[in-house]
Amino acid sequence: MRWMQPTSGARYIEATVGLGGHAQGILERSSPGGRLLALDRDPEALRHARERLSSYGDRVVFVQARHVDLEKVARQNGFAGIAGILFDLGVSSLQLMDPRRGFSFKEDGPLDMRMGPDAELSAQEIVNTWSQRELARIIREYGEERYARRVAWAICARRPLHTTGELARVVARAVRHSGRIHPATRTFQALRIAVNDELDSLRAVLPQAVRILAPGGRLVVISFHSLEDRIVKRFLVRESRACICPPRIPECVCGHEATLKRLTKKPIRPADAEVARNPRSRSARLRVASRLGTGCTAPRCHNE
Ligand SMILES: C[S@@+](CC[C@H](N)C(=O)[O-])C[C@H]1O[C@@H](n2cnc3c(N)ncnc32)[C@H](O)[C@@H]1O
Repeated sequence: MRWMQPTSGARYIEATVGLGGHAQGILERSSPGGRLLALDRDPEALRHARERLSSYGDRVVFVQARHVDLEKVARQNGFAGIAGILFDLGVSSLQLMDPRRGFSFKEDGPLDMRMGPDAELSAQEIVNTWSQRELARIIREYGEERYARRVAWAICARRPLHTTGELARVVARAVRHSGRIHPATRTFQALRIAVNDELDSLRAVLPQAVRILAPGGRLVVISFHSLEDRIVKRFLVRESRACICPPRIPECVCGHEATLKRLTKKPIRPADAEVARNPRSRSARLRVASRLGTGCTAPRCHNE
């Protein structure tokens, strides 16, 4: 909240409203006139957020949408030229704790992992129909699992698999050493990223977020694994540069203009007290930038 600096009368977007905790913080601090667009692809999350935020009345607009549609949804609802946007990436505790959603190997449930009904594939379809080579690729790239080939081989040898428990046991037998974490953690992360197309979605939404920020508006991103954080970092570095020509070119030919000022050069990590209160925040990394330049601040600007 310190980084968002909500003020009364301004407009904000919580692009990952989840259970509405951050949204409530923004609404409280932007009282009495601040407005919020609360977005999530998960209808169940929106139901909880609606209930929690009901006392704020028409100061909040709820929309079920994916990040790839952010700019369109924001403009349709009068949220262009906003003072701040928050992305608190990853899964919510609601999604993680519900065995029917299939995100966790701690309790048995169907191999689903879809954050919302818009996702085209479930984890079950990926696990049971993708080739061994494709499975190994996503487990290595998205899970950063060094035993990816062995895990993919074991999955293919034991499929069809239908539950999170079955998958976790197959992976645990294939992965010998996983340090402090459960042996299936990396494979579950990989599948979740693939099911929800998380990395491409993040790449697509960041430029959209910049386009709907007013000059001085804040872009705040909390990510939970290094793949996401790398995408955010590269984007912020690139957008804060006036020139993105390769160093070997003597004179600038790119025509690029800086659109952001980075307010955090290094990611902010949670304090020990925060981790003690909320152990899941251990891997969180926060990056913040503010929009440069002049631009339209009208709620429904169509000129950009
Ligand atoms: C970590 S939770 C957010 C928690 C929330 N900030 C709070 O205070 O309770 C992330 C939320 O973002 C949503 N989400 C993740 N990726 C999304 C995407 N591409 N489009 C829309 N919503 C997404 C998830 O469904 C989930 O509810």
